[in-house]
Amino acid sequence: MLKDKIDLIATSTFGLEAVVKRELEALGFEDFNVENGKVNFKGNIEDIALANIWLRVADRVLLKMGEFKAYSFEELYNKTYALPWEDIIPRDANFLIEGKSVKSKLYSISDSQRIVEKAIVNKLKTKYKDVTWFEKSGPRYRIEVSLLKDVATLTIDTSGAGLHKRGYRTRQGEAPLKETLAAAMVLLSYWNKDRLLWDPFCGSGTIPIEAAMIGRSIAPGLDRKFDAEEWEIMDKNIWRSARKKAFEKIDYKSNIDILACDINPRSVDIAIENATNLGLEDDIQFVTKDFRNMTLKNEYGVVITNPPYGERIGEAEEVEQLYIDLGEKMKELDTWSNYLITSDKGFEKLFGKKADRKRKLYNGRIEVDYYQYYGPRPPKK
Ligand SMILES: C[S@@+](CC[C@H](N)C(=O)[O-])C[C@H]1O[C@@H](n2cnc3c(N)ncnc32)[C@H](O)[C@@H]1O
Repeated sequence: MLKDKIDLIATSTFGLEAVVKRELEALGFEDFNVENGKVNFKGNIEDIALANIWLRVADRVLLKMGEFKAYSFEELYNKTYALPWEDIIPRDANFLIEGKSVKSKLYSISDSQRIVEKAIVNKLKTKYKDVTWFEKSGPRYRIEVSLLKDVATLTIDTSGAGLHKRGYRTRQGEAPLKETLAAAMVLLSYWNKDRLLWDPFCGSGTIPIEAAMIGRSIAPGLDRKFDAEEWEIMDKNIWRSARKKAFEKIDYKSNIDILACDINPRSVDIAIENATNLGLEDDIQFVTKDFRNMTLKNEYGVVITNPPYGERIGEAEEVEQLYIDLGEKMKELDTWSNYLITSDKGFEKLFGKKADRKRKLYNGRIEVDYYQYYGPRPPKK
């Protein structure tokens, strides 16, 4: 199996599939099949390391073992058994089976998991003939059987912890954004490292830090471990070489100009600590201030921000006033572009302007809109 191209899946939050696809294209991949919440692509074994280390917006990278129709448990067993598990899974593997089922005849998730486990164990026994009981003392292999409209997809998770866990966010403030969503907001904007970026509601600093990483070409997975790093089929040198190449890509020279503000001094402290974890504290200027009291003289800046949403009782009025004042503030900065995410459906009215583009996304379980206001293009330098 491993001599040929392997099938990989980058999973993502609903609404961000196109951004993940663009990231994969930038990494040199071709031939995608985009579905809800996932981008299918092909690669070789080294690409497991490349995708995990570099993808900023995807949630996980899965190795796809097979996909087939399954209307009965017998069919599920036989078709699972037919897949080359023994090529991937060693005798000491700590393999566990997870499952989900949507609109399928095989609706019992626990039964499907049991059948898949039985098929895999029996297949492994054809290779490890002396094993009567798998101890599962070695590296983790998280296998998933996902049934959707009677099609079973069998995958092994190569990432381990979700890819949003970059490792830098050792502390977080109130309602932090997932790092993957913050990176998507930056990638969906027209910000580039030559322009000033201002996050007036920075909280634990996720947007400014993700932007600084993008500006400096720092791979988001440089500083963390992945499940597949422990796999026998992946030589340690593959990971070493992917990390070495990623280190060589870091841009130490550019001038990065990011401004991170918050009214809460504790949040600003946390943001500084998180940025320092990556050595990015000098790229971001941190200010503890109400955004209303900020004076900005720069032209062609870019606001990318996640203001409070007023989801809690009693907050709504305060947040409405905040959106009105933010709209007023941005009128003063008429050459700026603004990108704001909120669940408040009345945002545009309060802000005083219709967005040039609106994109439906999810912040955890909360449905949000990403409001995009394009300012004029800065003159060519
Ligand atoms: C939704 S949180 C931002 C979370 C952030 N994106 C993160 O990932 O941690 C909103 C932030 O707005 C701040 N805030 C509320 N009112 C403010 C104001 N008038 N000026 C500046 N910051 C304010 C809060 O202290 C809070 O940290």
